[in-house]
Amino acid sequence: MTVKDFVQPYFVVEGAGIKHALKSLAGVWHFSIDELLKELARLTETGLDKILLFGVLEKERKDARGSQAYAPNNLVARAAAAVKRAYPALTVITDICLCGYTDHGHCGLTDGQNVLNDETLPLLAAMAVTHARAGADIVAPSAMQDGQVAAIRAALNKAACARTKIMGYSVKYASSLYSPFREAAQSAPAFGDRRSYQMDYRNASQALLETAADIEEGADIVMVKPAHAYLDIIQRVKARFPQMPLAAYHTSGEYMLIKAAAQAGFCDELQTAREILTAIKRAGADWLITYYARAFAECLL
Ligand code: PBG
Ligand code: ZN
Repeated sequence: MTVKDFVQPYFVVEGAGIKHALKSLAGVWHFSIDELLKELARLTETGLDKILLFGVLEKERKDARGSQAYAPNNLVARAAAAVKRAYPALTVITDICLCGYTDHGHCGLTDGQNVLNDETLPLLAAMAVTHARAGADIVAPSAMQDGQVAAIRAALNKAACARTKIMGYSVKYASSLYSPFREAAQSAPAFGDRRSYQMDYRNASQALLETAADIEEGADIVMVKPAHAYLDIIQRVKARFPQMPLAAYHTSGEYMLIKAAAQAGFCDELQTAREILTAIKRAGADWLITYYARAFAECLL
């Protein structure tokens, strides 16, 4: 593993002077933009060069359509612009999804019961355009709506953002391993679950179909998520699509399994994390999206 394999996720909030440690995700913080810039001074010294930004919105500003996700000058657009201004060499990836911005916590529009796939696509595309115009290098749609990569690609091209890349969440299973993230992002669904738009983990072959669809729609990078419990899927996707850069998302739950075991004295944290992350890379992942990125970059110095 090298420092260039890693992508560090960050959670951004409105305000100034905020660096708030998260209870659900130990070792991870909510940062206001000014504090994030300070944090990145340390991060970039290690040589780590890729970050993934998630916006966390105050409850009172959420609505049924997730308007703040794609409002002009939205939180993540401002964060991306500030980061690129301060650290032009950093690759800034932004999350494209509505769940952190909707009052019902679903990843798209709903009719109160179902998530409305096609009605959601223009909103995801609009969100991607605001981030791309602000300077995001890569947009990463995690909403799991069919056709989202194609809709975003078309909108980016039309907005003269043809150089902005797309990292598709090609293979994203409906998983119990996202719970700490949902608390951190305040994005848990208020009713039902995400099984109508995320994948069934009993199914392996669908991973290849979903990846092929994302490539066809114009994805530049594909992804498997979760990672540690899905090494078989990572290996199959890499074997079938060796030409595509493949990211694996070592999710919040997978991170906390190691963290909690280490805190209870059952294992050495960094050695265990190193072994598991190496396995994810060995299975075929090119990029490791992990909350351990920062810690690793520091010890790989
Ligand atoms: C939201 C999103 C989730 C994650 C990334 N984007 C949670 C979910 O789908 O409910 C999970 C990340 C993690 O667990 O670290 N679309
Ligand atoms: Zn979502």
